[in-house]
Order: sequence, then structure tokens, then C-alpha cells
Amino acid sequence: MTKRVLYLIACAAGPTQFVDEGVRQAVARGWDTCLVLTPSAARWWEPRMDELEKLTGHRVRSQYKLPSESDALPKADAMLVAPMTCTTLNKWGAGISDTLAIGLPSEAVHMGVPVLAMPYFNQAQAAQPAVARSIADLRAQGVLYLDDPEGYRAHPPKNGHPRAYPWHHALHAVGAIVSPAP
Ligand SMILES: Cc1cc2nc3c(=O)[nH]c(=O)nc-3n(C[C@H](O)[C@H](O)[C@H](O)COP(=O)(O)O)c2cc1C
Repeated sequence: MTKRVLYLIACAAGPTQFVDEGVRQAVARGWDTCLVLTPSAARWWEPRMDELEKLTGHRVRSQYKLPSESDALPKADAMLVAPMTCTTLNKWGAGISDTLAIGLPSEAVHMGVPVLAMPYFNQAQAAQPAVARSIADLRAQGVLYLDDPEGYRAHPPKNGHPRAYPWHHALHAVGAIVSPAP
């Protein structure tokens, strides 16, 4: 049986050091999982990218393709941006899609694809006025932004626990909208 396709889109936030755990959980829930990283996040995984490609069975994308290239990934049935940095949130809210990681969900949400986002940043970052504006802008476009209580709540500075990032909350929320099996 064919599986539905989930794009897991991860930014350069603490939990991305353990994004393989997020991928494992998505695969275990029955998703054909494609991983997209921001260019900054891809730098973190550069020496071990083959591990992620083995886990997903797909190329890990982090750059826009060339005009002459064809799409490397199957069409998405849902997209989950997690963990989402403060930087990606604010760029997306401002309509700047200079990374593939923003370009894909920012268009998809206006093409009927369910798009969810779960942040990971601290309370000092969250205190910037742009953050509340960007969250409101994303929600107004139809993005399901997962914060307290069903997602992630900003932690005190220097007090994050990236290993404990609740991937299961985000994946549960995706599964409540689209089932991994057609
Ligand atoms: C080791 C390290 C950990 C970081 N953790 C976070 C984080 O948890 N949340 C966040 O918003 N930014 C974090 N940053 C800052 C982002 O990586 C930085 O803003 C970057 O430009 C984000 O780009 P991206 O959103 O395209 O991945 C971290 C940076 C470093 C070097």
C-alpha cells in the first residue's frame, strides 16, 4: 500500500541535532518521510547526511533546485516545520522565502496542503515584537502553529532541553489532520 508523504522541515535550532529521532517517529507512524533542512541546519548534519538519507529513503534537500533539475522528492500530503527557529518564523511571516525550507510550506499552505509548524526558541528570542506578529501572520494564512499547550512553549534562556523536544506532539497534530495511510 502506498503511504502518504510528509515533509519534515527542520531549521538550525537545538533539536535538529537529533532530527533523526523526529524522522524515526514519523516513519514509525507510517509516513513516507522526506526531510528538508535549512542551509544552516544542513551544515550541522553535513558529515552524517547519508544516515538521514538512509532513514528516509530520499535525498535530503536543503537548497532550491536548478532550473534544469527535476523535483527530487514526491509531492507532499502534509508539511511539518519542526523545529522552527525564530529566524525562519520571522522571515516566513515577512514573506521572505530565501530558503527551500520556507519556500515549500509558504506556497503549499495556499495550495491546500496542510502545513503545521512547531517552534523551538527561548523566551528572550520570543520577546521580540516581530515574533507575535509573525505567529499571527502565519495563523492568518492557515498554518497550524503549535505552541502551548499542544505544542512547544518557549523556554528560559540557557535552559533548553533539545533532546526532549516533543516530536510526538507535532506528529500527533499532523495525524489528526491527515492519516499517513490513504
Ligand atoms: C548551536 C546553535 C543552536 C541554536 N539554537 C537555536 C534555537 O534553538 N532556536 C533558534 O531560534 N535559533 C537557534 N540558533 C540560531 C539559528 O541557528 C540562527 O538564527 C540561524 O540563522 C537560523 O537559520 P534557519 O532558520 O534558516 O535555520 C542556534 C544557533 C546555534 C549555532
